[in-house]
Amino acid sequence: MMQADTEVHKGLEGVIVTESSVGFVDGQAGRLVYRGYNIETLADNSNYEEVAYLLLYGHLPNAKEFENFRARLRTTMDLNADVVALIKSIAPKAHPMSVLRTVVSFIGAQDQKSNSTDLRDQEEMSLKLMSKLPAIVGTISRASKGQDAIKPDPELSYAANFLYCSTGKRPDKEHEKIMDTCLILHADHGSNASTFSALVTISTLADMYSAVTSAISTLKGPLHGGANELALETIKKVAKPENAEHVLSEMLAKKEKIMGFGHRVYKVYDPRARILKKYAESVTRRNGKEDLFRTAEQMEKVMISKLGEKGIFPNVDFYSGMVYDSLGFDSRMFTPIFALARIAGWTARSLEYIRDNKLFRPKAKYIGEAGPKEYVGIQKR
Ligand code: CMC
Repeated sequence: MMQADTEVHKGLEGVIVTESSVGFVDGQAGRLVYRGYNIETLADNSNYEEVAYLLLYGHLPNAKEFENFRARLRTTMDLNADVVALIKSIAPKAHPMSVLRTVVSFIGAQDQKSNSTDLRDQEEMSLKLMSKLPAIVGTISRASKGQDAIKPDPELSYAANFLYCSTGKRPDKEHEKIMDTCLILHADHGSNASTFSALVTISTLADMYSAVTSAISTLKGPLHGGANELALETIKKVAKPENAEHVLSEMLAKKEKIMGFGHRVYKVYDPRARILKKYAESVTRRNGKEDLFRTAEQMEKVMISKLGEKGIFPNVDFYSGMVYDSLGFDSRMFTPIFALARIAGWTARSLEYIRDNKLFRPKAKYIGEAGPKEYVGIQKR
């Protein structure tokens, strides 16, 4: 029997699949909200650990809750020797996102509780993974250059520890603040592809490691988290502000997508890009890479003049890559840094979802032959 004719929502565009009180993206107003707080308010006043707590537990922590949360993260922040050995064995040749995906899955396989569907165990797995990510991503960055792992420092913040585990140097206040702000800006973003992927996995009552492994796999693609790496490549290809007009015109004439522009939800300027643009300007000036910023700024002008009326503006990935580049990161590390932040949104929304779980099971509209066809043996085909 053929299916009744039904409307297909490709890419689930416009389809509401669940309720959430974690965060909200207003694509028309250019507003991003975490639990009622505007992203600008949090970027100016808060820090990543506070924001992670807010996303996970629904309110900003008081001093005692904050200290307990930080202490909880400290207890499991170290990587064991097997994890470090695994990273060192695969990081020199593989893309850092492939390494990250493998390591998270491996840590899940090491955890005896990873077969549990108990909500407290799922929360425990979330915190354990979050606590280890600064050292995991830092160690991946170092191992890809043949450098040894650095043990995280329990006195440092999440952002500072990541920089320390990556570079071996404790960052100054300015670099720590820039990194911290980047992490806040990327901590959550509505029902995006990787978050949805985490929800689909957790809805089967799989464990949190599996959900985060799914999310990391989904974040890897260039239409999602992978765009910042390619956006910086394009800025470097344009090279000078005066090249922006003709290079972009040629790319657009060939129907190429310009990475770092456009968004499924924002049809106005992405508020995260606005904040990052300021940091990109200051950090490139400080690190002698101002030309990169001027080129990007001109590319933005050209793109808005050509495609602004279609709702195409810079997204978070356009300026984030430049900031990470100025902090000394190889472009292949940009998407793992995105994951380092987004763990808060993935786990907060997964925990929220399984409190009132419903297995995801959408349908596909069948457009094949109606049949039933007669089976013809292989010799007669
Ligand atoms: N460069 C050139 N043209 C573009 C771009 C772009 N970056 N983005 C959209 N367009 C054009 C698109 O070709 C279409 O043109 P037409 O009307 O002639 O068919 C029109 O603008 C509308 O775009 P769309 O494809 O309907 O938009 P979408 O909602 O399906 O796609 C997107 C959103 C993010 C996949 C797309 O804008 C894109 O591929 N951007 C580049 C990749 C990128 O920067 N991704 C990071 C997104 S932000 C990080 C995150 O939150 O995950």
